[in-house]
Amino acid sequence: MSKGKILVTGGTGFIGSHTTVELQNAGYDVVIIDNLSNSNADVVDGIERITGVRPVFVEGDCTDISTLTRLFEQNPGIQGIINFAASKAVGESVQKPIMYYRNNINILLNLLELMPRFDTRGFVFSSSCTVYGEPDQNPITEDAPTKKATSPYGATKQICEDIIRDVIRSGSPIKAILLRYFNPIGAHPTAEIGELPNGVPQNLVPYLTQTAIGIRKELSVFGNDYNTPDGSCIRDFINVCDLAKAHVRALDRMLNNESDDALETFNIGTGQGLSVLQLIDAFQRATGVEVPHRIVGRREGDIEQIWADPYRANHILGWKADTSIEDTMRSAWKWQQRIRERGLM
Ligand code: WQD
Repeated sequence: MSKGKILVTGGTGFIGSHTTVELQNAGYDVVIIDNLSNSNADVVDGIERITGVRPVFVEGDCTDISTLTRLFEQNPGIQGIINFAASKAVGESVQKPIMYYRNNINILLNLLELMPRFDTRGFVFSSSCTVYGEPDQNPITEDAPTKKATSPYGATKQICEDIIRDVIRSGSPIKAILLRYFNPIGAHPTAEIGELPNGVPQNLVPYLTQTAIGIRKELSVFGNDYNTPDGSCIRDFINVCDLAKAHVRALDRMLNNESDDALETFNIGTGQGLSVLQLIDAFQRATGVEVPHRIVGRREGDIEQIWADPYRANHILGWKADTSIEDTMRSAWKWQQRIRERGLM
């Protein structure tokens, strides 16, 4: 018996694909729409190999409201949406602000406009700890002040949160939960799906595993002169499967009317800060594989340290991260090896 039909925009992406797996495991039927601008359709096969259930897949662009309208008409009964579809490279957003604002904001506006027309009640928004900027103190709570975004990417997350707040305040019948992710890492333990960045990875863990397997000569550590115990930046690295499960809890909470609040916000992190050098060490210890790395200058735009206070997610949402950093590093390494076996890189 299905728990209901959920639309996952950007569902062949890194977090979207892992969330589709957890939605299916929880008994939901999933419809994916993705324009494959930063992923490929093989991911749908990987999801099916894990769960034995093939999600409906629609190749399409969520910035086109007629495409989305047709999808809702052809897939009646969509009760909830998880919106991952967005451009998400911090550095690229600085070079292409118009594309980022147009893409990320139009997708959200289209979805919010269509939801009441098709009686879709629950909306989970993929937000980011980026909205906080450089915290005044850590761990950071949801009521910490959001600071001026340091990139157009971060600004789109802040603007989208405000749009959702305003739409609900206007009397829209929808409910929404904002999930502010910290740093998603790792891969599904089966290594059937994982992170597959286009070109040279911007994020730490894919660059690290590509260095470990020999695709990259050396991992550059961007600075060890920060005001942290070992001088390198500190982040809250969250296992992608744990993160995916938070989305299922958020949907359950809304569709089961567990809360009277039409809009809620949760930090989705482990609550543990880990430095870049500590993460490299954790990878080497967990896998036995050396990662050649060298300290270089700081990267423009990096914040020094941020990690979550996940109290609300743990005690109100009813979700808690429970995968160790060592298991997460092993999953990332297994995925990198699978990529090579499949000749994907
Ligand atoms: C982490 C740390 C780098 C690469 C961004 C977005 C965030 C989310 C995750 C989308 C930093 C250091 C990195 C490398 C390094 N994205 N680093 N060498 O910047 O914390 O977060 O990605 O939702 O919203 O802001 O992640 O993995 O790029 O960097 O030393 O080759 O690793 O300096 O301290 P970041 P990251």
